[in-house]
Amino acid sequence: MSAIQAAPARDRLRIAIQKNGRLAEPARALLSACGLSWRESRDKLFCYGESLPVDLLLVRDDDIPGLIADGVCDLGIVGRNELDEQGAARVQAGLAPAFHALRGLGFGQCRLMLAVPDEWEWQGPAQLSGTRIATSYPAILKDWLAARAIDAQVVELSGSVEIAPRLGTADLICDLVSSGATLRANQLKPVETLLDSEAVLAGAVRSPDDARGALMAMLLRRLDGVVQVQDRKLLMFRAEQANVPALEKLLADAEPLVRLPADEGALRLQTMCPGPLTWQRMEELERAGAQQLMVLSVERSLA
Ligand code: PRP
Ligand code: ZN
Repeated sequence: MSAIQAAPARDRLRIAIQKNGRLAEPARALLSACGLSWRESRDKLFCYGESLPVDLLLVRDDDIPGLIADGVCDLGIVGRNELDEQGAARVQAGLAPAFHALRGLGFGQCRLMLAVPDEWEWQGPAQLSGTRIATSYPAILKDWLAARAIDAQVVELSGSVEIAPRLGTADLICDLVSSGATLRANQLKPVETLLDSEAVLAGAVRSPDDARGALMAMLLRRLDGVVQVQDRKLLMFRAEQANVPALEKLLADAEPLVRLPADEGALRLQTMCPGPLTWQRMEELERAGAQQLMVLSVERSLA
């Protein structure tokens, strides 16, 4: 793990993504939306970029930070939980930082949480002194405990963390929670959040100074143009002049209305809404005088 030595010059960019698992599909969809396309190799571990010199490496999520640290890949799409864990482990081992999150991607949300057996009465972190905590995130957990001067034992497990309390190998756990179903199925309840996680685009602390730098900048710009408009909707409708002030009030969270003249002194109006536009909200607008309402998804933008 010799991290920060100059990686050999390459003219193709390499992005590591999860081969299977929660982030695999959305990661590929996001990169496709950025205009990338690939030819898959037969073993499906390497995808050769066709539209641009950007290749994909399909790997285990745990391997992604290390691949970036070693300069094998330039970028990776990985959970903040995994990136932070390996980042914290490097610091604890006295190694220099080698990778960091460049962008939050708005999918794969989950939390790293402490969870205790249902029958526990939770009174706060002070209660953890002298306990054994099972986790696959020992570095983050150790930092969290140290920051609170809590003396607890960290039991590192690579999987099936949630059954440790029943097996008697730990008293409680520190694990990812998404829907909460895994905790409930194991008679555990979440009590403290250590980290709010989502998928991030990760890159090396030192970005390459060859052709890949320009490629990376272009990709980041396209990515921003996709991620930032993900939830935005373009709303278009027709309205009589007299109804416009009331409609503006109902659209207080949207951008200022763009007004275009329409037939018979009416207006065509258009605005960008930050969140989803529900049926209920459209019906409300209709009652306030909006006609011919149309909601369009925004695919990409260049700011
Ligand atoms: C996580 C975690 C739990 C599960 C929680 O594993 O370890 O097992 O998800 O999800 P839930 O709250 O919706 O039940 P994940 O599937 O992310 O795989 P991992 O072991 O690679 O982290
Ligand atoms: Zn994993």
